[in-house]
Amino acid sequence: MIEEEIAGWADAIEDAVVGTRFAPRLVRVFESCGSTQDPARDLGPGAVVTAGVQTDGRGRLGRRWIDTEGSGIALSVGLEPSDPAVLSVAAGLAVLQTLRRFTTPSVEARIGLKFPNDVVDRVSARKFAGMLIESDASVAVLGIGVNVRIPAAPIDAPAMSVEEVAMGDRRPDRLPILIDLLQRLDHVLELDVDVLRQRYELDHAPTGGTVLLEADGVRFEGRLESLDPFGAVLLREVGTGRIREFGASQVRLVSWKPLRSGS
Ligand code: BTN
Repeated sequence: MIEEEIAGWADAIEDAVVGTRFAPRLVRVFESCGSTQDPARDLGPGAVVTAGVQTDGRGRLGRRWIDTEGSGIALSVGLEPSDPAVLSVAAGLAVLQTLRRFTTPSVEARIGLKFPNDVVDRVSARKFAGMLIESDASVAVLGIGVNVRIPAAPIDAPAMSVEEVAMGDRRPDRLPILIDLLQRLDHVLELDVDVLRQRYELDHAPTGGTVLLEADGVRFEGRLESLDPFGAVLLREVGTGRIREFGASQVRLVSWKPLRSGS
């Protein structure tokens, strides 16, 4: 029962965010919520909003992120407005670190990032988590959706859940993952942009593999040589072998092939 599962969440989250940028008095836990983004925006910087189920969640590019079973984490936090690219990179790294902590050591290295806002399995190319940033002049709302048990649906890519690669025999609980994520997020948001860039590049799953990339409406296929989330994207084009350079903010990775198969 969702009601029973979330009964202690508010107190636990309030305790966990003491001393962080998040405010215990701005923690809200809903049994059910349309989109956690909306109350977080209303509460402003410092807010932490989560829900047992999310009935009308939003994804990027007009997609939806709905979880009426309560199988995943729907988290929105209110932050001071800042560069969305930096927030997105920091959030991706925080989610990556949290997921690695809750999965078996043999799987840790399989978890990677996919530009701009996904956390993925390098082997299957399936998606563990997605992020959404909605900003106005007074608040940046960072929303994070994580597939913990069975995948939430529908999303833009085949889903992967923490449960499929979790430590131990038990089904993973959502609360410890949520708390770990909030604490890591607070830490990662302190990091310098150069450190964020280096860590992101290191863990960007499609780099070195074949990708289909779209830039300003035109598609290119080739080997992704490098991707700086705040700078240049270099692609060695299939056929010609020519290196093409794009700005990260202009590109969308339409698809990518995992570098290796099997675990
Ligand atoms: C994406 O992959 O397209 C981004 C998905 C973001 C989903 C999260 S779940 C918590 C927060 N509330 C929402 O309505 N969306 C985000």
